Amino acid sequence: MKQIQCIGVLTSGGDAPGMNAAIRSVTRTAIFNRLKVKAIFKGYKGLITGEIIPFETQSVSNIIQQGGTIIKTARCPEFHTPEGRKKAYDNLLKEEIDGLIVIGGDGTFTGARIFSQEYNIPVIGIPGTIDNDLYGTDYTLGYDTALNTIIQAVDKIRDTATSHERLFIVEVMGRDAGFLALNGAIASGAEAAIIPEIITETDQLEELIHNGFRKTKNSSIVFVSESNLAGGGAMAVAERLKEKGYDPRVTILGHVQRGGSPSALDRILASRMGVAAVDALLDDARSVMIGIVDNEIVYVPFSKAIKDEKPVNKYLLDVLKLLSI
Ligand code: F6P
Repeated sequence: MKQIQCIGVLTSGGDAPGMNAAIRSVTRTAIFNRLKVKAIFKGYKGLITGEIIPFETQSVSNIIQQGGTIIKTARCPEFHTPEGRKKAYDNLLKEEIDGLIVIGGDGTFTGARIFSQEYNIPVIGIPGTIDNDLYGTDYTLGYDTALNTIIQAVDKIRDTATSHERLFIVEVMGRDAGFLALNGAIASGAEAAIIPEIITETDQLEELIHNGFRKTKNSSIVFVSESNLAGGGAMAVAERLKEKGYDPRVTILGHVQRGGSPSALDRILASRMGVAAVDALLDDARSVMIGIVDNEIVYVPFSKAIKDEKPVNKYLLDVLKLLSI
């Protein structure tokens, strides 16, 4: 197999805090190994349109602490088509890029997997999404920072909730995964979390009402995952509560959860994963995501990372319930 000489790096899908730290790590590890590195702007879109520039060590100075991604990101429907991927491949040839590192979530890895097979190009993934919904890794980049953003916001909501003795419904992101909602709820001392993973087992809201939440408290905070599978989101949950005689207030945290300076944990994780991704390419690995399990770096085939369900730890629901008495 031909030795890699030039690595292309891109970020794709929703941005996540820690992506810049990962770009920095990939760039400097590549240069340390005497490889060329090129930044592909706007994800797969920039690969198709040829927005590609060489990076040096200084290109990634002063970015470890920045949220977002300095090389931009996009969701790119054209990359789903064979014609789009052909243009992308032609640009790789033109730029003499012989290995790719893609930082993103399941959509990013789905595209990477097809592209790698179609054109026999080695691609390594770094999990970057606040949702933490990729199988095979305990953590994804951005998840810890997003959790910290959530608890800072909810601490403020608690001040007004307590002053008015009110019930608040807080909707958090996560697409169809409840990691942010469940762990955000525990970390904020909330009463409950309505998450998609257990919606088929029980009507979580009915259970809450039945247990008489808020009766012995002067304020209550309930987390709701944004997923349609989780009671239809915060607004729908609030409507149901109004019908039962409650007077809830709703806060939808939205994209604020995606911004901000990455936490120490995300910076360290990004730095480790960036080094591991370049090492993986040099070791002739392909079509794998770099994961972290029990604090050790692992390789997870894209096929598993995107297809296998990552379960929430149901024990955490018990912890939440127990501590909200
Ligand atoms: O995957 C990250 C995420 O923030 C999800 O939590 C959310 O559902 C989605 O992206 C929102 O995407 P967009 O910013 O494209 O609306």
